[in-house]
Amino acid sequence: FVERTLAIFKPDVVQKQITDELEEIILSAGFTILQKKRLVMTPEQASDFYAEHYGKLFFPSLVAYMSSGPLTVMVLAKASAITYWRELIGPTNAVKARQTHPDSLRAIYGTDETRNGFHGSDSLYTADREIRFFFSDSIVEPIPRGQ
Ligand code: CMP
Repeated sequence: FVERTLAIFKPDVVQKQITDELEEIILSAGFTILQKKRLVMTPEQASDFYAEHYGKLFFPSLVAYMSSGPLTVMVLAKASAITYWRELIGPTNAVKARQTHPDSLRAIYGTDETRNGFHGSDSLYTADREIRFFFSDSIVEPIPRGQ
């Protein structure tokens, strides 16, 4: 069934100025872009977004990275969008992705394990939370028909 997922282009990717190119990839993969915005998170907002990782060794560098510059945040819709978007971006670690999934977006555009270029929600529950986090007014919009 048609799902929504939250996609983020992280600061290392936004800096490359390839957002248009990436949007074309997303559209030709069959996703609909329901919402899109560019924003900079404060360290507090980044900590809140990644609260589940609080206490992990990489948490401080994750928060610093995610608040280091503009993000492009999108709500994508497609049948099984959550799985498909995660497949398209590839494994978490961009360095390893270059070996195992060389065609994935993280392999091509990501930097390393923390600065991995892209985010995708990992379940229906987290997609709902993450979409509300960035688009608190959008959840009532119907998903377009015929997808
Ligand atoms: P993301 O999919 O946004 O979800 C959590 C983020 O934390 C992840 O992408 C990476 O940016 C970072 N991350 C996850 N695991 C590790 C790890 N083992 N070492 C460093 N950074 C990580």
